[in-house]
Amino acid sequence: MNYRVPLFDLYFEKREIERVLKVLNRGWITFGPECERFEREFSKFINSKYTLFVSSATAGLHMTYSACFERGDEVLVPSFTFVSTVTPLLHIGVKPVFVDIESIEFPLLSIKDAKKRLTRKTKGLIYMHYAGYLRNMKEVINFCREHKLILIEDSAHALPVSKDKYAGTFGKAGVFSFFSNKNLPIGEGGAVVTDHKKLYEKLKLLRSHGMTKDTFERFKKSSLYDVIDIGFNYRPTEIQGALACEMLKRVKKDNRKRENIVKKYRNKLLKYLKIPFDETFPSSHYIFPAFCKNKKERNNLRKFLLEKGIQTSVHYVPVHKFTVFKKLYPGVKLPVTEKAGDTELTLPLYPSMKKEQVEYVIEKIIEFFNR
Ligand SMILES: Cc1ncc(COP(=O)(O)O)c(C=O)c1O
Repeated sequence: MNYRVPLFDLYFEKREIERVLKVLNRGWITFGPECERFEREFSKFINSKYTLFVSSATAGLHMTYSACFERGDEVLVPSFTFVSTVTPLLHIGVKPVFVDIESIEFPLLSIKDAKKRLTRKTKGLIYMHYAGYLRNMKEVINFCREHKLILIEDSAHALPVSKDKYAGTFGKAGVFSFFSNKNLPIGEGGAVVTDHKKLYEKLKLLRSHGMTKDTFERFKKSSLYDVIDIGFNYRPTEIQGALACEMLKRVKKDNRKRENIVKKYRNKLLKYLKIPFDETFPSSHYIFPAFCKNKKERNNLRKFLLEKGIQTSVHYVPVHKFTVFKKLYPGVKLPVTEKAGDTELTLPLYPSMKKEQVEYVIEKIIEFFNR
């Protein structure tokens, strides 16, 4: 369908396209110097000691969980998130223990609820910065310290956002996504950041088959390698590296454009929809979530907007409500998450969104409520 206002849209600048073309002309397209350059630049960008560029955030989460947890462990996770915050735990035999969110106004993992779900087997907590909003992390950090839990941040939505420190750098590791609709959209890609050298070295091995030398090193020196760990192939390509280096230069500028759109939505729609957080809350403004009175109203509004050529989405159907999770973990009850999943509506938001498009979305929502 050709939407008058899509949920998100992309644009590439000339210098970005040229940089990718340069890589293609150079003839080395798997992991190489552009990827390494991106790792150095990303570390500087969010002030982290180490960055590991990977093929997706899901790959990054899988590797990080593999390095931090063991079969039989339990790990606290939100259910109000994308499914891949959780699935890599299952691949390594770790039990996800779903935790509710605080409220509709503050749809972030509730530490109060997390406390109730601790057992002797709990080894970690995955914190997801929903929609790119960064809370005061003290309570989360103290809780993890007190109970000796490894804190891993799913920062897929949170590039960049800071409150003293950048999201992704509060825990043992933070994982970012560069999927098509994210703040740094390169098609597919992700990054794991950490200040822990040992973890970084382990992840570096896991990214490339547990091999002691990566392909580029072997190419340069025509050398052999040993395999010293059970790894994956989660390497990104030079095409991703080149695009990521070049696009990183405009993430902050793009986020300011996102913020201006969010301000307009907030001002005009607060009367009709529940909008979480407030204007002062630091955010990357990855998406604009709003909440309706009930599921029926949300679905009717979505349908109405679709008829007007406006694409919307739902972030998220709670993970524990999906068929496979209901089978694996029956009886999970998270009342606030379930209410949020039933009533959330995500409005279009992207840096190249035109003023008229923003106004059109606002106008149609007001029209729906005044019918
Ligand atoms: C919260 C969250 N975690 C993880 C992911 C997975 O990212 P990727 O598509 O890069 O694997 C996403 C992607 O949408 C996400 O929103």
